Amino acid sequence: MSKVLVVTSGKGGTGKSTVAASLGAAFANRNKRVLLIDCDSGMRGLDIMLGVSKSLVFDIADAVSGNCKTEHIIYPCAHTEGLFLVPAPQKAEDELSPEVLSQFIDSVKNQYDIIIIDSPAGVGKGFETAVYPAQACLVVANAEPTSVRGCANVRKRLMELQKENIRLVINRLSKRNFFKLNFYPDLDAIIDETQIQLIGVVPESAQVVAAIQKGIVCTADSKALTAFDRIAGRLEGESLPLAVC
Ligand SMILES: Nc1ncnc2c1ncn2[C@@H]1O[C@H](COP(=O)(O)OP(=O)(O)O)[C@@H](O)[C@H]1O
Ligand SMILES: [Mg+2]
Repeated sequence: MSKVLVVTSGKGGTGKSTVAASLGAAFANRNKRVLLIDCDSGMRGLDIMLGVSKSLVFDIADAVSGNCKTEHIIYPCAHTEGLFLVPAPQKAEDELSPEVLSQFIDSVKNQYDIIIIDSPAGVGKGFETAVYPAQACLVVANAEPTSVRGCANVRKRLMELQKENIRLVINRLSKRNFFKLNFYPDLDAIIDETQIQLIGVVPESAQVVAAIQKGIVCTADSKALTAFDRIAGRLEGESLPLAVC
């Protein structure tokens, strides 16, 4: 299994942070020690999703500038044992460089089974920093033309950056809306347009949102939990059926 994984998408609001946090929890529930790194400088959100926003003192910019030690920016998640967070810099101007992020990851990677980087939207500087240390890339799409086009653009950029192990996650899928909106005849049409191999489908789930936005663990939606667990399993090399949404 690749140790350093980035979650990206091109377009904002597709569910990158939700997927990063939920996948991190899925790996932790598989007894892995997981480090989540929020790279969305100025727009961080994983601290809320992991229930640690009130205890934040330092962020990755503090460690980089020498304001604190590396261990002071690693926060244990409130709801899931084995899941840890490095919060993004609070200010957009404290954006990290690819080299600094890589150095940081090199210094801590022996302590974790998997490191998941949450990328900002777009294919700009923040994206390039987030993908730089990654050995595998998850691209998160919604079943909408603008989101799918964004993912196709991200794939192109990832290929230019010579990234391998690129996989597609279709998030927020609602069968009812899919057929009602009729943007695509089936999921294969999305896979074809992005040209990215599918690794998982996550259902639209009000319970996941309710839990994640409150920083608590979601236990209510077994379909969504199964979907995240199966993505974790596939990343570990298991051969699992696609979750039915
Ligand atoms: N599977 C899902 N079902 C329902 N809502 C979701 C799902 N995944 C994400 N969302 C919602 O979509 C919005 C954007 O999610 P977020 O993870 O912040 O996206 P991004 O990090 O890509 O900007 C949030 O309101 C979030 O609660
Ligand atoms: Mg986000």
